[in-house]
Amino acid sequence: MALLETVDLTVRYGGLAANDRVTMSVSPGQLVGLIGPNGAGKTTFIDAITGFTGVSSGTITFDGEEIKDLSADQRAQRGLTRTFQSLELFEDLTVRDNLLVAAERPKWYSFLVDLVRPSRSRSAWAGQVDRALDALELQPYADRLPSDLSHGQRKLIGVARALAAAPKLLLLDEPAAGLDTAESQKLGVHLRQFLDGGTSIFLIDHDMGLVLNVCDYIYVLDFGKVIAEGTPAEIRRDPAVIGAYLGETAGEAQAKEGTTLAAVLHHDEGAELAVNPDAALPIDADADPPDGAPSAVLAGADQRELTEERATDV
Ligand SMILES: Nc1ncnc2c1ncn2[C@@H]1O[C@H](COP(=O)(O)OP(=O)(O)OP(=O)(O)O)[C@@H](O)[C@H]1O
Ligand SMILES: [Mg+2]
Repeated sequence: MALLETVDLTVRYGGLAANDRVTMSVSPGQLVGLIGPNGAGKTTFIDAITGFTGVSSGTITFDGEEIKDLSADQRAQRGLTRTFQSLELFEDLTVRDNLLVAAERPKWYSFLVDLVRPSRSRSAWAGQVDRALDALELQPYADRLPSDLSHGQRKLIGVARALAAAPKLLLLDEPAAGLDTAESQKLGVHLRQFLDGGTSIFLIDHDMGLVLNVCDYIYVLDFGKVIAEGTPAEIRRDPAVIGAYLGETAGEAQAKEGTTLAAVLHHDEGAELAVNPDAALPIDADADPPDGAPSAVLAGADQRELTEERATDV
């Protein structure tokens, strides 16, 4: 049975269907990716799952229960935890306390409105916090303030804080944004390790190198609709995906026989993907791109520029 399943999930903002009959599922122990151009509806999907936005129609089943009518708090208590695309850390709390606050109260995002501090006496949560700090190699920074740390480290604190709530499903909204290639690779290794710890993951990111390397299964959204889904190997070769990312129609992309997303991202066409826990990670993110080819990370950045205009047109 799927851990999370949406069927025909539709979210409307006025006349715009930000999610249009989206059907997706995440099985226990899976790392599922969601990619798509800017404004495609990725964050809206996480908002809908976690109760941060209303659903117009469709169903959301989590752990065997229809959760569409539950509050965001109730969903968090059932084991759904998210990170936010724009980083929200508590700057006057140490790294450890940032995590402790989340571990103590699964509805930790209530801090966005309530100012509360962790109760240090409650050591019950210390183990969970330590596990999250260990998982992301953040122990050396545990007693520092977030403002002392680099952007990359701060992003990892955001992920660790969500992990400290010991979620069944962790929904990550662009955790690699602003990370350099080495940091992003390391994050990928950590994400696979979380799966072994019993947390399933739903990952949104523009870093195609990361998504293609670490995910078991990937969905592609464009203009609110799922335009492709499959294993990383299938997604790399999907003409609709190439079209969405390069601004071509699917037909034009199909016509360029032999063109694959892998080629676009300077992967070898026949290369095996390192998506399994026993495979080395990452496969080639350090490789020099061939002349003129964008790096995997740059492909995301380029694509943002390409679609920025389109997103605002909607
Ligand atoms: N609260 C809102 N009210 C009205 N429109 C919204 C709201 N949130 C998102 N939208 C619109 O819904 C569409 C999808 O936005 P969303 O933020 O989900 O895209 P995204 O795929 O996460 O993009 P990005 O890659 O830039 O983060 C966009 O056209 C956006 O302008
Ligand atoms: Mg978004």
